[in-house]
Formats: sequence, structure tokens, C-alpha cells
Amino acid sequence: MTALIEPSRAYDPLSISPLSFWSGTAEQREETFRVLRRERPISWHPPLEGALIPPENDGVWVVATHELVSYVSKNPQLFCSSRGFQFEEVPEDVNVAAGSFLGMDDPQHAKLRKLVSVAFTPRRVREIHDQIRDQARRIVDDLLTRPEGDFVEVVSKRLPMWTIYEMLGLEDPEKREKAAHHADGMVSWADEEVAAGREPGEVLNESLVSLLMMGMEFAEERRVHPKQDLMTALTQAEVDGERLTDDEIASFFVLLSVAGNDTTRNSISLTTKTLGEFPDQRELLLEDYEGRINTALEEFVRYASPVMTFRRTATQDTELGGQLVRQGEWVAMIYSSANRDEAVFADPYAFDVTRDPNPHVGFGGGGPHYCMGNFVAKMQLREIFDQLLHRAPTLRVGEPTYLTGNFVRAVKSMPYTL
Ligand code: HEM
Repeated sequence: MTALIEPSRAYDPLSISPLSFWSGTAEQREETFRVLRRERPISWHPPLEGALIPPENDGVWVVATHELVSYVSKNPQLFCSSRGFQFEEVPEDVNVAAGSFLGMDDPQHAKLRKLVSVAFTPRRVREIHDQIRDQARRIVDDLLTRPEGDFVEVVSKRLPMWTIYEMLGLEDPEKREKAAHHADGMVSWADEEVAAGREPGEVLNESLVSLLMMGMEFAEERRVHPKQDLMTALTQAEVDGERLTDDEIASFFVLLSVAGNDTTRNSISLTTKTLGEFPDQRELLLEDYEGRINTALEEFVRYASPVMTFRRTATQDTELGGQLVRQGEWVAMIYSSANRDEAVFADPYAFDVTRDPNPHVGFGGGGPHYCMGNFVAKMQLREIFDQLLHRAPTLRVGEPTYLTGNFVRAVKSMPYTL
């Protein structure tokens, strides 16, 4: 075993804590992560700037390599999720209400994930595949009638929102818009433009409470009037005689709204931009879309890394990358950095639609919390890019504006022309 180094508790000279670090571009951040991966795979940083409440700890460990991100993810007994999963301090009740089982450990996590899995099956997702294809076609029909505009509004945000709420059975288009709007608030409260003069905590609270209420009302409605949809299945799902409570369902509604909307939306925007920057890869994919798309989808997610970070808490004193991590200390995993790790990915900055194998950690590092919606996300990406590449060959996108924040790599808007 490697000799443990008692942490000096000197903060790393390359601090990733200032808000300005997260308002820069991914390429700028990568300059820092490249050095950290090479020289200090695990490093100690001040608490993140801009937290909603004063931080409990005087610092946070940051792991930047693929090896350490995977190790932390796969060892939940050492690095737990039930003491928060976000990089900065967030009030405990918010974590519980917003995180659903993402913020739990076994046995509670396994129980809830299993209950939800009863409803959220690959078969149910396959059933919706044709509808996702039709919806992608309609979105591109509409795009073709608008020679210019904001790509996020016209394309990226529409398919994920449609898919999640179609699966859940939320029919009213106004309610869909409202839920997606609040889901945005859940991940964008740190952004000055989104907050528009309000306190970040106010934005987060308003979004959370509204989503919880919507989830609660919706669950009640389906208990009375069951239908053939995911919400009905959630109200009826049963494992070992146990069912989900309305609170648990509402909390899962929040998790799905956030996890299912922003991530896929940003993957669509970021990949459209990337395909424009790598025309040879675009051509290669187009030459044999059916033959290459499965491999390409993994590269879309690796390259975009739409979820940049998640956090765990050490359950005991333990060694990590040669450092002694004390019980209760935080460990932030930088997925975007692990996805550029030159020890795992040959030529990591190249966008290569034929990259295989591609053990990226875009959907998580492989532990019990591995993204439950990865197959839904990939199905949407497959269908929307089939439509975009084949039917809108003259599509060009300009420079995006990005959201400030350390969680999702979000594109607020991106101009396009046809
Ligand atoms: C490209 C799009 C997406 C990306 C990059 C992504 C990424 C992630 C990541 C990194 C995690 C945490 C993994 C971990 O802690 O080990 C996660 C969890 C999760 N995702 Fe996704 N996700 C995407 C799309 C979706 C969609 C479309 C849904 C729902 C339909 C979804 C539902 C979930 C759920 C429920 C969890 C929590 C799983 C658990 O805690 O057991 N995700 N996702």
C-alpha cells in the first residue's frame, strides 16, 4: 500500500473554487484539469464560492483522473451520497427533496431505485421509441421553416422535455413548459442572468417547491384516474409489499425533471456545435449512420460531458490516490476531466465517432448511481441527429452563451442559420 501523506491542508495553487473559474469556457477549465491529472490527481481546494449556506468544511478534495473518479463511484461504502451530492453546500432539506435516491445510500437507495425501476423499464422506453422518432421529425420540420433563430429554443430543449413528460404522462403543454422552466431554475440559480436580481436561494426554493407541488398533484390525480403512463406505474409499483409514498414520487418527479431535461438538451446543443467543428467526423457518421451511430453516441457524451461534477462524502478515514482523506470530508469528482484523461483515451481532445472502446464517465463512474436514463438519453440523441444530419445539411451554429455553474455544462442559447 502507498504511504499515506498527512494532508498539509495547503490549498492547491490551481484553485477551482472561484465562480470565475466556472464562468470561463470548458477549454479554459481543462487547462487546469490537465495539470491536476498529471501532477496532483487528488488535490485540496477551498470551499466553492457562491454557496447558498456557509460551508461546513474548510475545503474539498478534487479528483481529476479517470481512475480516481471510477474508484470513488464504485466504493459507496467509503464515499457516500446521503450527505449531499453537489459540489457546494446546499441546505439538507433541499438535498432530500430534490435529490430523491440520487442523494441516498443503500439500503434505502437500492429499495427506491428498484421500486422506480419496476416502472421505468427498458420495455417502457422501447415502447416510446417510435414516438421519439416522430417527435424528432416534427421538431426538424419546424426548424426547416425557420431559417434562423436560437437553436436551444427551436431544437435542443424540445425533445428532452417532450420525452420526459410524455413518458410520465403529463399531458398539458403549459404544465410541461412550467415544469421544464422550474427544472432549469434548479441548476441555474448561480447564474446572475437567471437570478435577475433575486437571491440565488430564492430561485432554487421557488423552483423546488413548484416542482414538488406539481409532482404531488400529478401523483394524486393518477391514483384517482390511472392511465397507461409512468406516473400511474409509479403510484402502483410494489416491491416486497412496499409502495412509493407521494413525497417520494414528488421527489422523483423533481429528479427526473432535472436529470432528464438539462443533460440531454445540453448534449444536443454541444454535439451540434462539435459536429460543425469536426466536418470530417460528421461526414464519416453520415456515410454509415446506422452502422456508426451507437459508437458515436458514446463519443457525443464523452466529448460534451454535460454533467461536469458530482460529490461524495468520506464515511471513514481512508486512502485515496496516496492522500489521507478524513471521515466527513468531501470528494468532488470531475467527470469532464476524467473524460479527457490521456491515460485512458488516446488523443483525448480529438472528437472521434469511431472511438471504441470508449469507457467514458459521462453517465457516472459505474457505481450504484449510474445514470438510470442513459438509454432514454441515447435514444433521443440517435433520433434527433438522424433528422438533423440528413434533413438539415446546411445548418450552421454560432457561439453559444454558457451558464455559470459547476454542475451541468449548460448552453443558454446558441444562434443558428440554415
Ligand atoms: C446525456 C444525458 C445524460 C447524462 C450525461 C446523465 C448523467 C448522469 C450522471 C453523471 C448521473 C450520476 C451518476 C453517478 O453518480 O454515478 C446520473 C444519474 C441519474 N440520471 Fe442521468 N444523465 C443523462 C440523462 C438522463 C435522462 C434522460 C434521465 C431520465 C429519463 C436520467 C435519469 C437519471 C437518474 C434517475 C439518475 C439517478 C440514479 C441513481 O441515483 O441511482 N438521466 N445521470
